[in-house]
Amino acid sequence: MCGIVGAVVAAGDVLPEVLTGLRTLEYRGYDSAGVAVLAGGLLEVRRKSGRISALEAELADRRLPSALQAVGHTRWATHGKPADRNAHPHRDQDNQVVVVHNGIIENFVELRAELEKEGVAFSSETDTEVIANLLARQLRATGDLHAALLGAIDQLHGAYALVAMAVGHEGEMVAARRDSPLVLGVGAGGRFAASDMPALLHLTRDFLFLENGETCVFTAESHRIFDAAGKLVSRDLAKCDWTPEQAEKGGYPHFMLKEIEEQPDVLARTAFDRFRDSTGDVTFEDGFQLTDEDLRRAARLRFMAMGTSFHAALLGQQMTAELARLPGETLNASEFLYSPRLAEETAITVIISQSGETADSLRAMREVKERGGTVIGICNVQGSTLAREADHLILTHCGPEVGVASTKAFVGQLTALYLLAIRIGRAREELDLDKGLALLRDLRAVRTQLDPLFEPETHVAIRAAADFLAPKSSCLFLGRGLLFPVALEGALKLKEISYIHAEGYPAGEMKHGPIALIDTDFPVVVVATPGRAYKKTLSNMEEVKARGGRLLAVACREDEKVAALADFILPVPSVPELLAPIVNVVPLQLLAYETALVLGCDIDQPRNLAKSVTVE
Ligand code: F6R
Repeated sequence: MCGIVGAVVAAGDVLPEVLTGLRTLEYRGYDSAGVAVLAGGLLEVRRKSGRISALEAELADRRLPSALQAVGHTRWATHGKPADRNAHPHRDQDNQVVVVHNGIIENFVELRAELEKEGVAFSSETDTEVIANLLARQLRATGDLHAALLGAIDQLHGAYALVAMAVGHEGEMVAARRDSPLVLGVGAGGRFAASDMPALLHLTRDFLFLENGETCVFTAESHRIFDAAGKLVSRDLAKCDWTPEQAEKGGYPHFMLKEIEEQPDVLARTAFDRFRDSTGDVTFEDGFQLTDEDLRRAARLRFMAMGTSFHAALLGQQMTAELARLPGETLNASEFLYSPRLAEETAITVIISQSGETADSLRAMREVKERGGTVIGICNVQGSTLAREADHLILTHCGPEVGVASTKAFVGQLTALYLLAIRIGRAREELDLDKGLALLRDLRAVRTQLDPLFEPETHVAIRAAADFLAPKSSCLFLGRGLLFPVALEGALKLKEISYIHAEGYPAGEMKHGPIALIDTDFPVVVVATPGRAYKKTLSNMEEVKARGGRLLAVACREDEKVAALADFILPVPSVPELLAPIVNVVPLQLLAYETALVLGCDIDQPRNLAKSVTVE
């Protein structure tokens, strides 16, 4: 998705800071990049399709003057193909106003036609150029930049986060958001706006989060936020506990590998401060206010999310059913609107999202709330829309996830879901103190049990499997029970970063169709650790073997039965069944990573993907 940075400072040249911010936003996925400065009463723009390095080459050729205010943008094409002319920033035809924008303006065709009738000539196919011209028209009428912004956004239907500046309004910037994220950073020498916090961590740790419909006017020394009705809003600064280093590669070749290896710490940070071994009680922070009585009253739990978070949701449902005996359902958030309307008063809905900005998940959350339901958000980004709008919040403490393929967020989510299931189980008296304590001790132990997964011996085994997989065009992932969502997640990781077609199936479903794919040399990855479905999974492996298929198995190191069947073993330590997904997903993440590496793919920014999908 597009990334935005806007900055105004009291002294110095702000452009290098904007470029640093843009580089941090690269992870969101983009096809072009650009910057604009306002200096000496003139707006100047440089923009290029391709990587930020192409923009930097352009800036080296055609230098921009030193400036106190600038905007920058990474574009992920929606209206108009990736091309220099479609890259942001966009100006009005008289070069008086410049805008960077993330989102989709649904009525842009009508607005563009109206402006064309007035004689406006467009130089791009984007919806954003329409915004720049609307803003310029309003500015001519009012002479006030904020009033012009309000007049312009009043005409927009759709989603936007935007930052603008204008000739004649030096030192001032304006911003607005509706259904696309935007944060304001407050530093000693300036004010900054960006799509997310990591883009500004090199400048400040103090943030304000704009709510939907709000606008903002900021200078280097001050900022004012207005609600949708134009009324001044007062808002406290929030301190971000992420560090700039967490958003850097730190010596790793890829963010994805760094983030996979951070998972033991993610588990510890997400869980260990939330329970005491002595009392067995799980407590979440102030954002979570549901009482034992509330949890006892719930008749069912609903889990909703997208992508990797959806796979975590499937596991959350199984964990809660098991530990709290509470029936549940899991829905892909984008399907919620089309599902039957059930009573919300007796249900609790858990919405899971790493970014807290996924449009489908937010839409589902708002719909549940509108229907009178209660929402628990499980989210990694403090201040994100989900974190602010959910009735109750459990933060996963993963630190910023930069790699487009989600890894550590999954482990953070599973850890939070496990704690939630215990919390509900204890409240509903389905778990006694001893059982609760034992479950928490199991979780604590997993942190160190993950260590062998990062040792050279495991790497050798995974690398051999990756070498085998890399030339293949298609692959099945199988698992049963708690291991089925792990198979789904393994398949998703492989396809998104190596582009090898991969499908996750419940192992029992294989005989009902997918088995037709299996011939000599066809790869099947099976998640085959001990548990209630172990024996049946072994039978499925036999079926693959009998047809000449090649088996790659996630299995316990000492498991001789699986070793006798599989061509490649991805070894994992033995852990209690409910926690096995946390452990078993790691070799599958590494398998995807190593396979993509063999194939020379762009691991951190796979084609067509965006880190945070902010449009439905
Ligand atoms: C997969 C991936 C996506 C996200 C999905 C939801 O590796 O990154 O499938 O999991 O877009 O994102 P969040 O969790 O931010 O709502």
